Amino acid sequence: MYKFEEINLYQEKLDLKEFVKEVNIEEMDEPVNICDLSVLAKKYTTWLRFMPRVKPYYAVKCNDDGRIVKELANLGTGFDCASKNEIKLALEMGASPESIIFANPCKPASHLRYAKEKRIMTSTVDTEYEIYKIAKHYPESNLVIRFLCEAKDAQCPLGDKFGCNAEADAASLMLLAKSLSLSVTGISFHVGSGCNDFPAYNRAISIAKNLFKFGEMIGYNMKILDIGGGFPGADDDKFATIAEIVNASLEKYFPDENVEIISEPGRFFVASAYTLVCKIHAKRDVRSEKKADLRMYYINDGVYGSFNCILYDHQKVTAEHFLEENDNLQKFKTLIWGPSCDALDKITDDAYLPNLSCGDLIAFPNMGAYTVPIASPFNGFLVPKTLYFKAN
Ligand SMILES: Cc1ncc(COP(=O)(O)O)c(C=O)c1O
Repeated sequence: MYKFEEINLYQEKLDLKEFVKEVNIEEMDEPVNICDLSVLAKKYTTWLRFMPRVKPYYAVKCNDDGRIVKELANLGTGFDCASKNEIKLALEMGASPESIIFANPCKPASHLRYAKEKRIMTSTVDTEYEIYKIAKHYPESNLVIRFLCEAKDAQCPLGDKFGCNAEADAASLMLLAKSLSLSVTGISFHVGSGCNDFPAYNRAISIAKNLFKFGEMIGYNMKILDIGGGFPGADDDKFATIAEIVNASLEKYFPDENVEIISEPGRFFVASAYTLVCKIHAKRDVRSEKKADLRMYYINDGVYGSFNCILYDHQKVTAEHFLEENDNLQKFKTLIWGPSCDALDKITDDAYLPNLSCGDLIAFPNMGAYTVPIASPFNGFLVPKTLYFKAN
């Protein structure tokens, strides 16, 4: 029987149908995340294959489950942390201080003092106020200047909030740092999470080159280029296309192998490691002309839980059923609701599923990114427990 406290081992393939056969459906009144930790190693291999020059610093915010962070630390990734608690977690899970970048450009002073205590040397900045704060609380920091270069199309744009203007502000930030005797060692950008405008990476890398030159001109030893996140979670073909663009840009603008190229992928590593399994506990047929046109299912997780990713991360989720494989099964337009007493709690209204019953399970693949850390137990419906698996 599967155990929640342990890592469950599987041979060759993690078969969810087998899982469903063995699991006690009665106990499934709460949703369950199936986390395949082996996916992380596969994604890391894919990363190294396509972008060997770029070292990934996993963005902890994306999924801060300790087992995920530990697995990635064991694999050898670095970590992008945004707060004191993320730094603490990464260190506890085995990351070294040198493998952490404090990549939140707007940091509370107490978090900065914690970074100093733990010797997290590299911090991202994009305003003069942050530079003054660092001069006061942690002047030994190595600064990475984040500029704005936004994708024309991204699932979650970040540019309204972060990134200095590369032309108007980046040089003066470096000069200010210089006047305060601070060290600037790199340049960063984030084109937006879920980037769908791949040439944005090329545009940003070419701008970064100019900022590198300026930093060197005023006497800084510029050694880090941080190309941020934005990589797809479950589509490795898209990732390969982005990698081709990034590699060509690096070859053109940063041929010097001494420049350390890093990145901050979140979604890329964890999205496909999770499948969320939910149970239908109520059903309603919406009839017109005495015919059941639309099936509505009420399941045990919703937009206040794992499916917060629909509201905050603009994810599109896919529902899969567990009935025996049969192409001839008639499919019906289906609306799936979350469990709360709130009509905003709608998961999808354009699924096509066979006729399911109360007690049947529905699986949602690719649910590992921007789900777990944000879910709340609103209305008394608990967030999913996680069952961890790994290939033997
Ligand atoms: C500073 C920073 N780095 C990295 C990430 C991770 O981005 P992604 O999940 O698109 O790779 C984010 C996401 O918001 C971010 O804000």
